[in-house]
Amino acid sequence: MIVPGSRSQALAAALATTLDDTLAVPEFDRFPDGETFAAVPAAGADTPERAVVVAATPSNDAYVELLQLQDALREAGVESLVTVIPYMGYARQDKVFEPGQPISARAMARAVSTSTDRVVLVTPHEPAVREFFDVPVDIVDAADRLAVPLAGLDTPLDDPLFLSPDDGAIDLARAVRDAHGAGGTDYFEKTRHSGTEVSIEPSDAPVEGRDVVITDDIIATGSTMAESVAVLRERGADRIFTACVHPLLARAARTKLEAAGVERVYGTDTLERDVSVVSAAPVVADVL
Ligand code: R5P
Repeated sequence: MIVPGSRSQALAAALATTLDDTLAVPEFDRFPDGETFAAVPAAGADTPERAVVVAATPSNDAYVELLQLQDALREAGVESLVTVIPYMGYARQDKVFEPGQPISARAMARAVSTSTDRVVLVTPHEPAVREFFDVPVDIVDAADRLAVPLAGLDTPLDDPLFLSPDDGAIDLARAVRDAHGAGGTDYFEKTRHSGTEVSIEPSDAPVEGRDVVITDDIIATGSTMAESVAVLRERGADRIFTACVHPLLARAARTKLEAAGVERVYGTDTLERDVSVVSAAPVVADVL
């Protein structure tokens, strides 16, 4: 049985189809005091031996909902429980940056571990986050799925450059280039000044008149991508696409990208947004 969290309904449905498994329809509600409620009536009626919860956790409520779904399934008697976290919230607070801070990723991972036998993470910001869980963790990478929409463009990419905004994401750029089958790769140098301010130092790669695909694991506030798009515009790039695994698109991210002159924004369904044009289901299904 595949059990979706409320933020992962499309991915859960795609997984159920790919695995030819049952798709449960949970009940989601909220009490007058603001507390969330999530139940799985189908598991109560006919307990499956194995259940796979698929729940992105981009908010506090999403985390609570995931814990409730896990608990409901255990309470119903599910013996084997796998938890797929397509996008793991708090994963970027994975260390103490200043004395007195929590390791939020570890706190969340410990809570999630209490009611599951296994966890699957999709393209976490730092793979080392797996160490925070108390159960086995499989990590899958959905980066190469981003080549799918690029292959469907009406005007195909012409000698594209796959660029990452910093050296940390260059493997992701290479993965998308390899899946696309042609093009160069390069990376910019990024300096983050605050949560929303970044500056980008361009590389020497020739971009004038060229199609560029900027790839990253996540677009959060959009500052990184918008700054990269602006730099490429200044340097005379032709079409500039942005592609990320996790299209969080917080605050005015989408507007920043449009204002900077992006051609199209692509993401996967690890987070359900209007730009989530490709599913991570095939890579997740491979480990289920
Ligand atoms: C950072 O290293 C990540 O790979 C992303 O570049 C970053 O999280 C994007 O954040 P924002 O969209 O807020 O610039």
